[in-house]
Amino acid sequence: MNILVIHGPNLNMLGKRDEKHYGSFTQDELYQEIADYFEHIEFSFFQSNHEGELIDVVQQAEEDNYDAILINPGAYTHTSIALRDALELVSLLKVEVHLSNIEEREAFRQIDYIKDVCHMRFMGKKIDSYIEAIKYIEHSIM
Ligand code: DQA
Repeated sequence: MNILVIHGPNLNMLGKRDEKHYGSFTQDELYQEIADYFEHIEFSFFQSNHEGELIDVVQQAEEDNYDAILINPGAYTHTSIALRDALELVSLLKVEVHLSNIEEREAFRQIDYIKDVCHMRFMGKKIDSYIEAIKYIEHSIM
């Protein structure tokens, strides 16, 4: 199984962001923890601060033969209809993930444009949101 993990803007700055919401680990540490936990799964990690680059990778995902997309679009969650449209086009299993609980934060974070074009959403548990999301992908695909 090969899962494409997509990270949007500012997630490359993990470790420097508000610890309360995002923890103190870096993006590389997050990636490593996932890879160590699911040794039997292949991961491709992609991060970009640019909306169009995220869309390009989503559009290409089926052709690149991934089994699923796990996406944390960062702030594009709350703004990007273009990313939503790209995800809608892809018929892979798509799972949305967030470190923080966006439902319990500022009102603008409660707008989620990608929620209903993904099969499931996990959030609020920092790295454990990712672990739960990948377990969901495993069970859905097997
Ligand atoms: C985030 C939540 C977003 O609101 C924020 O802009 C992020 C990270 C999360 O993982 O909790 O960059 O997606």
